[in-house]
Amino acid sequence: METPPHTLPLVDQAPATESFRDAVLEGLRTPQKQVPSKFLYDERGSELFDQICELEEYYPTRTEIGIMQENVDEMVQAIGPQARLLELGSGSSTKTRILLDHLDDLGVYVPVDISRSHLMAAAESLAEAYPDVPVQPLCADYTSTFTLPDPPQPVERTVAYYPGSTVGNFQPEEAQRFLSRIAGAVAPNGGLLIGVDLQKDVEVMEAAYNDAAGVTAAFNKNLLRRMNRELDATFDLDRFEHESIWNEEKGCVESFLRSREAQTVTVAGETFDFAAGETIHTEYSFKYTVDGFADLIGEAGFSVETVWTDDQSYFSVQYCTVTN
Ligand code: AVJ
Repeated sequence: METPPHTLPLVDQAPATESFRDAVLEGLRTPQKQVPSKFLYDERGSELFDQICELEEYYPTRTEIGIMQENVDEMVQAIGPQARLLELGSGSSTKTRILLDHLDDLGVYVPVDISRSHLMAAAESLAEAYPDVPVQPLCADYTSTFTLPDPPQPVERTVAYYPGSTVGNFQPEEAQRFLSRIAGAVAPNGGLLIGVDLQKDVEVMEAAYNDAAGVTAAFNKNLLRRMNRELDATFDLDRFEHESIWNEEKGCVESFLRSREAQTVTVAGETFDFAAGETIHTEYSFKYTVDGFADLIGEAGFSVETVWTDDQSYFSVQYCTVTN
């Protein structure tokens, strides 16, 4: 007999004050002006990101979904029975459904997201679609510390799920620190199922962030709009241009907003001068080799058990276990 759908009470660990203002002012005062990429995702930014995922040039989303569909049985086997599946930055949990469709003995699903409204909407729709799976939503900034709530009943292990190559937004040292914290959260005998974008032809990687329809440019420039709205800033969107370029030395696509001319902009009452051609750094998208990522995650306390990839080796989904 099926149990009725159940969403457990929301566990709220959301940061008290959104630190957008502090992060922006601090970032714009540095010689290489910068704003952390997590601030790209306001409501409009999240919509634009969903559109990016549908673009012909943006290969990661469809490639990762293909890898998941192709190998889901092995992934389910790696996760094992009565696990707690902890999704970091769950958003609308689209890729998770591929797992949930095949995980017939899951202990509990814990989606973690900073956006309370997205989290609750996704949790309710999943509880509806998977009435046998307890859903325990956790509202938290998963990039800072969070505490896992007690599961509704004891679980065999905790497996973190971190799709989308979101790990590529961190610089490698940060990624390592972050992954060490995740290792701590899933230990002992836990695992991590993670999507990792792989290095490939520069033209392919650059085109993914310079789409012909200009959706990625709109996504990047939306940050200026957000600063105008939330921080009383005076950015003229026509006086900046979107730029994404492969940095061979670092192994990442870097995104910028480049000032077309010399200008002065006010943000939260503070003025900032831009030289002609000066940039604001807005995003890192690191791409790894399979070996390079194994080294990084090894330092973080995980060992890679299985690497699934597509036939062009564009993208990978990897199952890692905590090393004791
Ligand atoms: C969600 C961080 C993986 O870096 O490819 C897509 C975000 N930015 N296009 C990426 C993004 C511009 C994306 N990640």
